[in-house]
Amino acid sequence: MLRELISQGSFRAYHEPFLGGGSVFLGLGPFRRAVLSDSNAELIEAFEGIRDAPEQVAEIAHAHGFDPETYYHLRATVSVDKIERAARFLYLNHMSFNGIYRVNLDGIYNVPFGRRKNVNMPTADQLVDVASRLKGARLVARDFAKCIKDVRAGDLVFLDPPYTVAHNNNGFVKYNQRLFSWDDQQRLSRLIDEIKGIGAYYVLTNAAHDSIGELFEKGDCLLQTRRRNNIGGNNAVRGAATEYLFTNLI
Ligand SMILES: C[S@@+](CC[C@H](N)C(=O)[O-])C[C@H]1O[C@@H](n2cnc3c(N)ncnc32)[C@H](O)[C@@H]1O
Repeated sequence: MLRELISQGSFRAYHEPFLGGGSVFLGLGPFRRAVLSDSNAELIEAFEGIRDAPEQVAEIAHAHGFDPETYYHLRATVSVDKIERAARFLYLNHMSFNGIYRVNLDGIYNVPFGRRKNVNMPTADQLVDVASRLKGARLVARDFAKCIKDVRAGDLVFLDPPYTVAHNNNGFVKYNQRLFSWDDQQRLSRLIDEIKGIGAYYVLTNAAHDSIGELFEKGDCLLQTRRRNNIGGNNAVRGAATEYLFTNLI
């Protein structure tokens, strides 16, 4: 559905302020101009490392043993070298339990080893492809609301925030409060008003929940979609989840 909505050539610039793994940018691009951001500075730095030295990042990530001892050693050690840090980030995300990214209150990555049957570490060729897609993109570590200063009329902003409601039945749940609170959802709603005010387009994916439906009701198009959710801890909803997609593109 996103592919049908977003045709690469028709926007002045593409913005993705909740970049995460970048699957939408990577799957639908390349875009002529793109501004990609996330509040997770380590994630942005890892993308920069992949953009600047994809083969080296892959080589380092594959050279680490895919065993718990190496995993816990790397988890506890942060290199001073930016490319090694990018490889460490990639390695930890592909070796951790359910591919979760979680840090403790001191900002230290604390996800246990994943015991995966198949490790799907990206190859050098795959990272070279990612790097070529990132060439025209600006990468920034920042809060999503700050993206507005780069948005111009005719741009597209794709918004995929963390979901803070238990899908479909319960109200707001506590487990994600620190990650993305109701106050953040309200800030996101105000950001969308600003995007529309500029004359730009937005696509927002969010939990299919009445509270979300009400907050983001802006007289635009609301679609219901199903998406597979393979990432998440014990509290996350796994399997296919229904979600809302709001847009002023149609
Ligand atoms: C659902 S994920 C995005 C997934 C992404 N679309 C993908 O395909 O991989 C949400 C992202 O939002 C980021 N995030 C959480 N709070 C944020 C904030 N206040 N500002 C910017 N990014 C934030 C998280 O670090 C996470 O990477």
